[in-house]
Amino acid sequence: MNVIVNGALGRMGQQVCRLLAESGDTAIRVDRVGGDGVYAALSDYDGPADAVIDFSHHTGAKELMDYCAARKLPLVAATTGYTPEELALLEAGSKAVPVFQSFNMSVGVALLARLVKEAAAVFGGADVEIIEAHHNRKADAPSGTALMLADAVKSQRPESQYVFGRSGQHKRQPNEIGIHAIRMGNVVGEHEVIFGTDSQTITLKHQAHDRALFAEGALTAARFLLEQGPGFYHMDDLLG
Ligand SMILES: NC(=O)c1ccc[n+]([C@@H]2O[C@H](COP(=O)([O-])OP(=O)(O)OC[C@H]3O[C@@H](n4cnc5c(N)ncnc54)[C@H](OP(=O)(O)O)[C@@H]3O)[C@@H](O)[C@H]2O)c1
Repeated sequence: MNVIVNGALGRMGQQVCRLLAESGDTAIRVDRVGGDGVYAALSDYDGPADAVIDFSHHTGAKELMDYCAARKLPLVAATTGYTPEELALLEAGSKAVPVFQSFNMSVGVALLARLVKEAAAVFGGADVEIIEAHHNRKADAPSGTALMLADAVKSQRPESQYVFGRSGQHKRQPNEIGIHAIRMGNVVGEHEVIFGTDSQTITLKHQAHDRALFAEGALTAARFLLEQGPGFYHMDDLLG
């Protein structure tokens, strides 16, 4: 497989290139600074390619989608921070080529979200609390993944209200989903969803040990797209 890696010099891009090399595939590296063996723009490369994996910056969405559509290349859009308009661009582009988009490329987290949905349906009356932990350099809180997990609960309980942190003199309301963020050290990413009733507690938890898992997920998604027609795909499609 020949894969164009956009953002190839970044932390995630480097992981993707390493995995491609390990599996005997070829990485075509693109990063805006360019350099030795690195194209400075997608439009600088028109050679053989089977797919594009993007771990760069959300503001490049239009250039990225235009390039993939023009070259009929499947796209794994793994970058985060897309605005609704940029996401709409990708979705529109997916009418021409297969596009895979996820703010969390971990197959394990996708499975966690599915299990959370099931637990929320079975334990309809349980109190739900979500706790996430990340390294001390992360700017945003709570994580997009914590919100995605809250949405998974809400899909089964539309009356849910998100409560970010908790302090002061307020009793917990039954429809609350408490969302709590911890920032410390070098934690790659942990997400825990707790369902509590008067008689039992169920805890569903995912721990990422290595950022490589996101690169692995992106490669799995790229291989998946090779078998698909145009469409807007997400982790749930990958799980089957
Ligand atoms: N979906 C997931 O599971 C997942 C997991 C991890 C990370 N991410 C996301 O993936 C993105 C990259 O993460 P990272 O940790 O690898 O960041 P990073 O280390 O900052 O790497 C991003 C790379 O892309 C380059 N770049 C920026 N804008 C570009 C553009 N318009 N076109 C081409 N290259 C561009 C950057 O160059 P400069 O250094 O010159 O800015 C940098 O080399 C972020 O949005 C991050 O949140 C997603």
